[in-house]
Amino acid sequence: MDSGKFPDSFAWGAATAAYQIEGGWDADGKGPNVWDTFTHQGGDRVYKNQTGDVACGSYTLWEEDLKCIKQLGLTHYRFSLSWSRLLPDGTTGFINQKGINYYNKLIDSLLEMSVTPLVTLYHFDLPQPVEDQGGWLSEKTVEIFEQYAEFCYATFGDRIKHWITINEPYFASRLSYESGIFPPGKELIGTGAYRAAHNMIKAHAKAWHIYNTSFKNKQQGRVSIALDSDWAEPLDPNSLADKEGTERYMHFRLHWFANPIFIDGDYPEIMKSIISQKSKEEGLTCSRLPEFTEEEKAMIKGTADFFCLNYYTTRKVKTLSSETLPSKRYGNSDMGAEGITEPNWPIAGVEWLAVVPWGIRKLLAYIKHCFGNPEIFITENGFAQTDPPALQDVHRWGYFQETLMEVLKAIKQDGVNVKGYFAWSLLDNFEWSFGYSVRFGLFHVDFEQANLPRTPYYSANEYAKVVKGNELIYK
Ligand code: GAL
Repeated sequence: MDSGKFPDSFAWGAATAAYQIEGGWDADGKGPNVWDTFTHQGGDRVYKNQTGDVACGSYTLWEEDLKCIKQLGLTHYRFSLSWSRLLPDGTTGFINQKGINYYNKLIDSLLEMSVTPLVTLYHFDLPQPVEDQGGWLSEKTVEIFEQYAEFCYATFGDRIKHWITINEPYFASRLSYESGIFPPGKELIGTGAYRAAHNMIKAHAKAWHIYNTSFKNKQQGRVSIALDSDWAEPLDPNSLADKEGTERYMHFRLHWFANPIFIDGDYPEIMKSIISQKSKEEGLTCSRLPEFTEEEKAMIKGTADFFCLNYYTTRKVKTLSSETLPSKRYGNSDMGAEGITEPNWPIAGVEWLAVVPWGIRKLLAYIKHCFGNPEIFITENGFAQTDPPALQDVHRWGYFQETLMEVLKAIKQDGVNVKGYFAWSLLDNFEWSFGYSVRFGLFHVDFEQANLPRTPYYSANEYAKVVKGNELIYK
Protein backbone atom coordinates (compact mmCIF):
# COMPACT_ATOMS: atom_id res chain seq x y z
CA MET A 1 0.00 0.00 0.00
CA ASP A 2 1.57 3.29 -0.93
CA SER A 3 -1.26 5.75 -1.01
CA GLY A 4 -4.78 5.95 0.17
CA LYS A 5 -7.75 7.86 1.38
CA PHE A 6 -8.34 8.62 5.03
CA PRO A 7 -11.79 7.99 6.49
CA ASP A 8 -14.49 10.58 5.85
CA SER A 9 -14.50 13.45 8.32
CA PHE A 10 -10.98 12.64 9.48
CA ALA A 11 -9.73 15.52 11.66
CA TRP A 12 -6.67 17.24 10.17
CA GLY A 13 -4.98 19.53 12.60
CA ALA A 14 -1.87 21.13 13.98
CA ALA A 15 -1.10 21.75 17.62
CA THR A 16 0.48 24.47 19.75
CA ALA A 17 0.72 25.35 23.43
CA ALA A 18 0.22 28.72 25.10
CA TYR A 19 3.65 29.25 26.66
CA GLN A 20 5.40 28.08 23.51
CA ILE A 21 3.74 30.59 21.17
CA GLU A 22 1.88 33.40 22.92
CA GLY A 23 4.51 35.67 24.44
CA GLY A 24 2.84 38.64 26.16
CA TRP A 25 4.02 37.04 29.36
CA ASP A 26 2.86 39.95 31.55
CA ALA A 27 0.48 41.64 29.13
CA ASP A 28 -2.97 42.84 30.17
CA GLY A 29 -2.97 41.40 33.66
CA LYS A 30 -1.57 37.93 33.01
CA GLY A 31 -0.07 36.39 36.14
CA PRO A 32 3.29 34.62 36.21
CA ASN A 33 3.51 30.89 35.62
CA VAL A 34 6.30 28.46 36.44
CA TRP A 35 7.93 28.84 33.02
CA ASP A 36 8.06 32.62 33.42
CA THR A 37 9.80 32.19 36.74
CA PHE A 38 12.14 29.45 35.57
CA THR A 39 13.29 31.22 32.41
CA HIS A 40 13.71 34.56 34.21
CA GLN A 41 15.96 32.93 36.78
CA GLY A 42 18.48 32.03 34.08
CA GLY A 43 21.05 29.50 35.18
CA ASP A 44 21.51 27.84 31.80
CA ARG A 45 18.65 25.43 32.25
CA VAL A 46 17.25 26.60 28.93
CA TYR A 47 19.31 26.93 25.74
CA LYS A 48 21.07 30.34 25.89
CA ASN A 49 18.73 31.29 28.72
CA GLN A 50 16.00 31.99 26.20
CA THR A 51 12.46 32.71 27.39
CA GLY A 52 8.89 32.60 26.14
CA ASP A 53 8.43 36.31 26.94
CA VAL A 54 7.84 37.06 23.26
CA ALA A 55 7.90 33.61 21.58
CA CYS A 56 5.82 33.74 18.36
CA GLY A 57 3.95 36.78 19.66
CA SER A 58 0.65 34.97 19.16
CA TYR A 59 -0.99 37.00 21.92
CA THR A 60 -0.99 39.93 19.49
CA LEU A 61 -0.27 38.15 16.19
CA TRP A 62 -2.98 35.50 16.48
CA GLU A 63 -4.49 36.58 13.19
CA GLU A 64 -1.20 35.62 11.54
CA ASP A 65 -1.65 32.14 13.05
CA LEU A 66 -5.14 31.98 11.58
CA LYS A 67 -3.68 32.72 8.16
CA CYS A 68 -1.33 29.76 8.58
CA ILE A 69 -4.24 27.54 9.61
CA LYS A 70 -6.18 28.69 6.59
CA GLN A 71 -3.26 28.10 4.28
CA LEU A 72 -3.02 24.52 5.54
CA GLY A 73 -6.77 24.07 5.14
CA LEU A 74 -6.97 22.48 8.60
CA THR A 75 -10.26 21.16 9.87
CA HIS A 76 -9.09 21.28 13.52
CA TYR A 77 -6.65 23.31 15.62
CA ARG A 78 -5.32 22.25 19.01
CA PHE A 79 -4.12 25.01 21.33
CA SER A 80 -3.86 25.44 25.07
CA LEU A 81 -5.23 28.07 27.40
CA SER A 82 -2.75 29.96 29.51
CA TRP A 83 -4.15 29.31 32.96
CA SER A 84 -2.48 32.38 34.49
CA ARG A 85 -3.68 34.62 31.66
CA LEU A 86 -7.24 33.74 32.64
CA LEU A 87 -6.77 33.38 36.39
CA PRO A 88 -3.67 35.37 37.35
CA ASP A 89 -3.20 33.68 40.72
CA GLY A 90 -4.52 30.34 39.48
CA THR A 91 -7.80 30.60 41.38
CA THR A 92 -11.21 31.91 40.40
CA GLY A 93 -10.81 34.55 43.13
CA PHE A 94 -9.73 36.95 40.41
CA ILE A 95 -10.66 36.61 36.77
CA ASN A 96 -8.80 38.46 34.03
CA GLN A 97 -11.42 39.58 31.52
CA LYS A 98 -8.73 40.52 28.98
CA GLY A 99 -7.54 36.94 28.98
CA ILE A 100 -11.08 35.77 28.31
CA ASN A 101 -11.40 38.31 25.51
CA TYR A 102 -8.24 36.99 23.87
CA TYR A 103 -9.45 33.40 23.74
CA ASN A 104 -12.96 34.46 22.73
CA LYS A 105 -11.52 36.23 19.68
CA LEU A 106 -9.43 33.22 18.79
CA ILE A 107 -12.23 30.70 19.25
CA ASP A 108 -14.84 32.76 17.44
CA SER A 109 -12.51 33.35 14.51
CA LEU A 110 -11.68 29.65 14.24
CA LEU A 111 -15.36 28.78 14.21
CA GLU A 112 -16.02 31.42 11.57
CA MET A 113 -13.38 29.66 9.45
CA SER A 114 -15.08 26.31 10.16
CA VAL A 115 -12.06 25.10 12.08
CA THR A 116 -12.90 22.99 15.14
CA PRO A 117 -10.89 23.93 18.22
CA LEU A 118 -9.48 21.25 20.53
CA VAL A 119 -8.52 22.95 23.77
CA THR A 120 -5.93 21.84 26.31
CA LEU A 121 -6.47 23.27 29.79
CA TYR A 122 -2.96 22.68 31.07
CA HIS A 123 0.18 22.33 28.97
CA PHE A 124 3.09 22.57 31.47
CA ASP A 125 2.43 26.19 32.54
CA LEU A 126 1.22 26.03 36.14
CA PRO A 127 0.45 29.45 37.66
CA GLN A 128 3.35 30.35 39.96
CA PRO A 129 1.10 30.96 43.00
CA VAL A 130 -0.25 27.41 42.63
CA GLU A 131 3.29 26.08 42.49
CA ASP A 132 4.12 28.14 45.58
CA GLN A 133 1.44 26.23 47.47
CA GLY A 134 3.09 22.93 46.59
CA GLY A 135 2.17 22.62 42.91
CA TRP A 136 1.37 19.13 41.73
CA LEU A 137 2.95 17.65 44.84
CA SER A 138 0.04 19.05 46.81
CA GLU A 139 -3.41 17.57 46.99
CA LYS A 140 -4.76 21.16 47.07
CA THR A 141 -3.93 21.51 43.38
CA VAL A 142 -6.52 18.85 42.55
CA GLU A 143 -9.31 21.12 43.71
CA ILE A 144 -7.76 24.27 42.25
CA PHE A 145 -7.52 22.53 38.87
CA GLU A 146 -11.09 21.34 39.08
CA GLN A 147 -12.26 24.92 39.67
CA TYR A 148 -10.14 26.17 36.78
CA ALA A 149 -11.63 23.49 34.50
CA GLU A 150 -15.14 24.39 35.61
CA PHE A 151 -14.45 28.05 34.91
CA CYS A 152 -13.20 27.19 31.39
CA TYR A 153 -16.21 25.02 30.59
CA ALA A 154 -18.56 27.76 31.81
CA THR A 155 -16.72 30.45 29.84
CA PHE A 156 -15.88 28.71 26.55
CA GLY A 157 -17.88 25.49 26.58
CA ASP A 158 -20.73 26.90 24.55
CA ARG A 159 -18.27 26.74 21.63
CA ILE A 160 -15.60 24.20 22.65
CA LYS A 161 -16.66 20.58 22.28
CA HIS A 162 -13.29 18.83 22.64
CA TRP A 163 -11.38 19.32 25.86
CA ILE A 164 -8.01 17.93 26.93
CA THR A 165 -7.41 18.37 30.63
CA ILE A 166 -3.68 17.78 30.98
CA ASN A 167 -0.97 17.45 28.38
CA GLU A 168 1.46 14.59 28.90
CA PRO A 169 1.27 13.89 32.62
CA TYR A 170 4.27 11.57 32.15
CA PHE A 171 6.63 14.41 31.22
CA ALA A 172 4.82 16.99 33.33
CA SER A 173 5.49 14.90 36.42
CA ARG A 174 8.90 13.38 35.59
CA LEU A 175 10.64 16.45 34.22
CA SER A 176 9.23 18.87 36.80
CA TYR A 177 9.45 16.90 40.02
CA GLU A 178 12.01 14.17 39.42
CA SER A 179 14.74 15.11 36.95
CA GLY A 180 14.24 18.83 37.56
CA ILE A 181 14.72 19.70 33.88
CA PHE A 182 11.39 21.59 33.80
CA PRO A 183 10.16 24.06 36.41
CA PRO A 184 9.97 24.04 39.36
CA GLY A 185 13.21 22.08 38.88
CA LYS A 186 12.64 19.71 41.78
CA GLU A 187 14.80 16.60 41.95
CA LEU A 188 12.78 14.35 44.21
CA ILE A 189 14.27 11.13 43.01
CA GLY A 190 12.04 8.10 43.33
CA THR A 191 9.06 9.99 44.77
CA GLY A 192 8.39 13.34 43.09
CA ALA A 193 7.03 12.07 39.78
CA TYR A 194 4.80 9.48 41.44
CA ARG A 195 3.30 12.04 43.82
CA ALA A 196 2.80 14.67 41.11
CA ALA A 197 1.28 12.15 38.71
CA HIS A 198 -1.05 10.92 41.46
CA ASN A 199 -2.50 14.41 41.86
CA MET A 200 -2.64 14.98 38.10
CA ILE A 201 -4.69 11.82 37.60
CA LYS A 202 -7.10 12.87 40.35
CA ALA A 203 -7.30 16.42 38.98
CA HIS A 204 -8.03 15.07 35.50
CA ALA A 205 -10.75 12.78 36.84
CA LYS A 206 -12.39 15.58 38.82
CA ALA A 207 -12.32 17.83 35.76
CA TRP A 208 -13.97 15.07 33.72
CA HIS A 209 -16.68 14.59 36.36
CA ILE A 210 -17.54 18.23 36.72
CA TYR A 211 -18.04 18.37 32.96
CA ASN A 212 -20.07 15.22 32.98
CA THR A 213 -22.39 16.29 35.75
CA SER A 214 -22.73 20.03 35.15
CA PHE A 215 -22.05 20.73 31.47
CA LYS A 216 -22.32 17.70 29.25
CA ASN A 217 -26.07 17.70 28.86
CA LYS A 218 -26.20 21.27 27.74
CA GLN A 219 -22.89 21.59 25.90
CA GLN A 220 -22.62 18.13 24.36
CA GLY A 221 -18.83 18.09 24.40
CA ARG A 222 -16.22 15.51 25.35
CA VAL A 223 -13.24 15.46 27.68
CA SER A 224 -9.98 13.53 27.57
CA ILE A 225 -6.29 13.73 28.55
CA ALA A 226 -3.28 13.70 26.20
CA LEU A 227 -0.99 10.76 26.93
CA ASP A 228 2.43 10.53 25.36
CA SER A 229 4.11 7.26 24.73
CA ASP A 230 6.98 5.69 22.87
CA TRP A 231 6.53 2.34 21.23
CA ALA A 232 8.97 -0.19 22.67
CA GLU A 233 10.37 -3.53 21.55
CA PRO A 234 12.94 -5.87 23.11
CA LEU A 235 16.52 -5.16 22.09
CA ASP A 236 17.10 -8.87 21.78
CA PRO A 237 13.82 -10.41 20.62
CA ASN A 238 14.98 -13.82 21.84
CA SER A 239 15.76 -12.65 25.34
CA LEU A 240 13.04 -13.25 27.90
CA ALA A 241 14.65 -10.63 30.13
CA ASP A 242 14.40 -7.99 27.38
CA LYS A 243 10.82 -9.00 26.63
CA GLU A 244 9.90 -8.56 30.28
CA GLY A 245 11.85 -5.30 30.36
CA THR A 246 9.78 -4.09 27.40
CA GLU A 247 6.59 -4.92 29.19
CA ARG A 248 7.79 -2.94 32.19
CA TYR A 249 8.82 -0.08 29.90
CA MET A 250 5.33 0.22 28.41
CA HIS A 251 3.78 0.03 31.86
CA PHE A 252 5.95 2.72 33.39
CA ARG A 253 5.40 4.90 30.31
CA LEU A 254 1.80 4.48 29.15
CA HIS A 255 -0.15 2.20 31.47
CA TRP A 256 0.86 4.30 34.51
CA PHE A 257 -1.81 6.77 33.35
CA ALA A 258 -3.90 4.81 30.87
CA ASN A 259 -4.77 1.95 33.23
CA PRO A 260 -6.35 4.12 35.92
CA ILE A 261 -8.24 6.24 33.40
CA PHE A 262 -9.22 3.68 30.76
CA ILE A 263 -9.29 0.39 32.68
CA ASP A 264 -9.86 0.09 36.39
CA GLY A 265 -9.06 3.27 38.30
CA ASP A 266 -5.76 1.91 39.54
CA TYR A 267 -2.07 1.70 38.66
CA PRO A 268 -0.86 -1.40 36.84
CA GLU A 269 -0.07 -4.36 39.08
CA ILE A 270 3.46 -4.49 37.70
CA MET A 271 4.23 -0.95 38.91
CA LYS A 272 2.57 -1.47 42.27
CA SER A 273 4.46 -4.66 43.05
CA ILE A 274 7.90 -3.49 41.85
CA ILE A 275 7.78 -0.13 43.61
CA SER A 276 6.36 -1.57 46.81
CA GLN A 277 9.02 -4.30 46.89
CA LYS A 278 11.82 -1.81 46.29
CA SER A 279 10.43 0.56 48.89
CA LYS A 280 10.50 -2.28 51.43
CA GLU A 281 14.10 -3.08 50.54
CA GLU A 282 14.91 0.58 51.08
CA GLY A 283 13.50 0.33 54.60
CA LEU A 284 10.45 2.49 53.89
CA THR A 285 7.21 1.77 55.71
CA CYS A 286 5.04 2.36 52.66
CA SER A 287 5.45 2.28 48.92
CA ARG A 288 6.90 5.29 47.11
CA LEU A 289 3.98 4.87 44.69
CA PRO A 290 0.96 6.42 46.40
CA GLU A 291 -2.25 4.41 46.59
CA PHE A 292 -5.71 5.40 45.44
CA THR A 293 -8.55 4.77 47.89
CA GLU A 294 -11.42 2.59 46.66
CA GLU A 295 -13.54 5.71 46.32
CA GLU A 296 -10.85 7.40 44.23
CA LYS A 297 -10.51 4.36 41.99
CA ALA A 298 -14.22 4.46 41.26
CA MET A 299 -13.95 8.19 40.62
CA ILE A 300 -11.01 7.81 38.19
CA LYS A 301 -12.13 4.81 36.18
CA GLY A 302 -13.62 5.63 32.78
CA THR A 303 -12.82 9.35 32.77
CA ALA A 304 -11.91 9.83 29.11
CA ASP A 305 -14.35 10.09 26.23
CA PHE A 306 -11.67 9.42 23.61
CA PHE A 307 -7.95 8.61 23.56
CA CYS A 308 -5.42 11.37 22.82
CA LEU A 309 -2.00 10.06 21.86
CA ASN A 310 1.19 12.07 21.45
CA TYR A 311 3.69 9.88 19.60
CA TYR A 312 7.21 10.84 18.63
CA THR A 313 9.56 7.88 18.80
CA THR A 314 10.35 4.24 19.54
CA ARG A 315 12.93 2.54 21.75
CA LYS A 316 14.58 -0.86 21.91
CA VAL A 317 14.53 -2.05 25.48
CA LYS A 318 17.29 -3.73 27.39
CA THR A 319 16.69 -5.13 30.84
CA LEU A 320 19.08 -3.80 33.45
CA SER A 321 20.55 -6.21 35.95
CA SER A 322 21.15 -5.19 39.55
CA GLU A 323 24.77 -4.38 38.63
CA THR A 324 23.85 -2.14 35.72
CA LEU A 325 21.00 -0.30 37.46
CA PRO A 326 21.63 3.41 37.75
CA SER A 327 22.31 4.57 41.29
CA LYS A 328 19.71 7.32 41.02
CA ARG A 329 16.23 5.98 41.37
CA TYR A 330 14.24 7.65 38.65
CA GLY A 331 13.01 6.14 35.42
CA ASN A 332 15.25 3.26 34.61
CA SER A 333 15.82 2.16 38.14
CA ASP A 334 12.29 1.18 39.24
CA MET A 335 11.52 0.00 35.74
CA GLY A 336 14.72 -2.07 35.63
CA ALA A 337 15.13 -1.41 31.94
CA GLU A 338 16.54 1.13 29.58
CA GLY A 339 15.31 2.40 26.21
CA ILE A 340 17.90 2.46 23.46
CA THR A 341 17.94 4.08 20.04
CA GLU A 342 19.06 1.89 17.14
CA PRO A 343 22.09 3.46 15.46
CA ASN A 344 20.50 3.19 11.99
CA TRP A 345 17.40 5.18 12.94
CA PRO A 346 17.58 8.73 11.57
CA ILE A 347 17.47 11.52 14.13
CA ALA A 348 15.13 14.47 13.46
CA GLY A 349 16.65 17.66 14.80
CA VAL A 350 16.96 16.74 18.46
CA GLU A 351 18.83 13.82 19.93
CA TRP A 352 15.87 12.04 21.53
CA LEU A 353 13.83 12.02 18.35
CA ALA A 354 14.72 8.85 16.45
CA VAL A 355 12.48 8.59 13.42
CA VAL A 356 10.57 5.30 13.59
CA PRO A 357 7.36 5.59 11.56
CA TRP A 358 6.37 1.93 11.98
CA GLY A 359 6.33 2.46 15.75
CA ILE A 360 3.16 4.50 15.54
CA ARG A 361 1.28 1.71 13.77
CA LYS A 362 2.28 -0.81 16.41
CA LEU A 363 1.46 1.56 19.23
CA LEU A 364 -1.96 2.33 17.76
CA ALA A 365 -2.78 -1.37 17.46
CA TYR A 366 -1.53 -1.89 21.02
CA ILE A 367 -3.80 0.88 22.35
CA LYS A 368 -6.73 -0.62 20.48
CA HIS A 369 -6.00 -3.98 22.07
CA CYS A 370 -5.29 -2.82 25.64
CA PHE A 371 -7.83 -0.07 26.10
CA GLY A 372 -11.01 -1.35 24.46
CA ASN A 373 -10.72 -0.02 20.94
CA PRO A 374 -11.21 3.65 21.80
CA GLU A 375 -11.54 6.51 19.33
CA ILE A 376 -8.01 7.82 19.01
CA PHE A 377 -6.85 11.29 18.10
CA ILE A 378 -3.12 11.60 17.46
CA THR A 379 -2.87 14.94 19.23
CA GLU A 380 0.87 15.40 18.56
CA ASN A 381 3.41 13.98 16.17
CA GLY A 382 6.24 15.75 14.47
CA PHE A 383 9.86 16.11 13.47
CA ALA A 384 12.26 18.90 14.19
CA GLN A 385 15.01 20.70 12.38
CA THR A 386 17.95 22.30 14.05
CA ASP A 387 18.57 25.98 13.70
CA PRO A 388 19.10 27.31 11.03
CA PRO A 389 16.39 25.22 9.41
CA ALA A 390 15.93 24.59 5.69
CA LEU A 391 12.74 26.01 4.22
CA GLN A 392 12.92 23.20 1.65
CA ASP A 393 12.60 20.51 4.31
CA VAL A 394 12.03 17.72 1.80
CA HIS A 395 13.59 15.16 4.08
CA ARG A 396 11.35 16.06 6.98
CA TRP A 397 8.27 15.81 4.80
CA GLY A 398 9.44 12.29 3.98
CA TYR A 399 9.20 11.46 7.71
CA PHE A 400 5.68 12.89 7.88
CA GLN A 401 4.66 10.89 4.82
CA GLU A 402 6.03 7.63 6.15
CA THR A 403 4.31 8.22 9.47
CA LEU A 404 0.99 9.08 7.87
CA MET A 405 1.27 5.95 5.76
CA GLU A 406 1.65 3.90 8.95
CA VAL A 407 -1.38 5.65 10.44
CA LEU A 408 -3.33 4.74 7.34
CA LYS A 409 -2.26 1.10 7.64
CA ALA A 410 -3.33 1.12 11.29
CA ILE A 411 -6.76 2.34 10.22
CA LYS A 412 -7.24 0.17 7.15
CA GLN A 413 -5.36 -3.01 7.94
CA ASP A 414 -5.51 -3.14 11.74
CA GLY A 415 -8.93 -1.59 12.18
CA VAL A 416 -7.74 1.04 14.64
CA ASN A 417 -10.31 3.76 15.21
CA VAL A 418 -8.08 6.77 14.47
CA LYS A 419 -10.18 9.90 14.14
CA GLY A 420 -7.59 12.58 13.56
CA TYR A 421 -3.99 13.66 13.29
CA PHE A 422 -2.42 16.84 14.67
CA ALA A 423 1.04 17.79 13.49
CA TRP A 424 3.32 19.26 16.12
CA SER A 425 3.52 22.11 15.51
CA LEU A 426 1.78 24.85 13.56
CA LEU A 427 4.74 27.16 14.11
CA ASP A 428 8.36 27.04 15.14
CA ASN A 429 8.19 27.93 18.81
CA PHE A 430 9.80 27.87 22.25
CA GLU A 431 10.82 24.23 22.54
CA TRP A 432 11.14 24.17 26.34
CA SER A 433 14.74 23.48 27.45
CA PHE A 434 15.91 23.70 23.85
CA GLY A 435 14.60 27.27 23.47
CA TYR A 436 14.38 28.30 19.83
CA SER A 437 17.22 26.02 18.71
CA VAL A 438 14.89 23.16 17.78
CA ARG A 439 12.22 23.89 15.19
CA PHE A 440 9.10 21.77 14.95
CA GLY A 441 6.95 24.19 12.93
CA LEU A 442 5.12 23.66 9.68
CA PHE A 443 5.68 27.40 9.44
CA HIS A 444 9.05 28.98 9.94
CA VAL A 445 9.13 31.90 12.35
CA ASP A 446 11.86 34.50 11.99
CA PHE A 447 12.56 35.27 15.64
CA GLU A 448 15.12 37.94 14.65
CA GLN A 449 12.50 40.22 13.15
CA ALA A 450 10.20 42.29 15.33
CA ASN A 451 7.10 41.28 13.39
CA LEU A 452 7.99 37.57 13.71
CA PRO A 453 7.02 36.66 10.13
CA ARG A 454 5.68 33.18 9.42
CA THR A 455 6.76 31.41 6.22
CA PRO A 456 5.57 27.96 5.16
CA TYR A 457 8.12 25.18 4.96
CA TYR A 458 7.92 22.74 2.07
CA SER A 459 6.26 20.39 4.60
CA ALA A 460 3.43 22.86 5.12
CA ASN A 461 2.63 23.00 1.42
CA GLU A 462 2.72 19.22 1.16
CA TYR A 463 0.64 18.75 4.32
CA ALA A 464 -1.97 21.13 2.87
CA LYS A 465 -2.30 18.81 -0.15
CA VAL A 466 -2.92 15.80 2.10
CA VAL A 467 -5.49 17.74 4.11
CA LYS A 468 -7.25 18.96 1.01
CA GLY A 469 -7.51 15.53 -0.62
CA ASN A 470 -7.98 13.66 2.67
CA GLU A 471 -5.51 11.39 0.99
CA LEU A 472 -1.87 10.47 1.10
CA ILE A 473 -0.21 10.07 -2.23
CA TYR A 474 3.10 8.52 -1.49
CA LYS A 475 6.14 7.77 -3.67
C1 GAL B 1 5.73 17.28 23.59
C2 GAL B 1 5.12 18.54 24.16
C3 GAL B 1 5.12 19.69 23.20
C4 GAL B 1 6.36 19.78 22.33
C5 GAL B 1 6.76 18.42 21.79
C6 GAL B 1 8.06 18.37 21.01
O1 GAL B 1 6.21 16.50 24.63
O2 GAL B 1 3.78 18.31 24.51
O3 GAL B 1 4.89 20.86 23.94
O4 GAL B 1 7.36 20.46 22.92
O5 GAL B 1 6.85 17.49 22.81
O6 GAL B 1 9.14 18.17 21.85
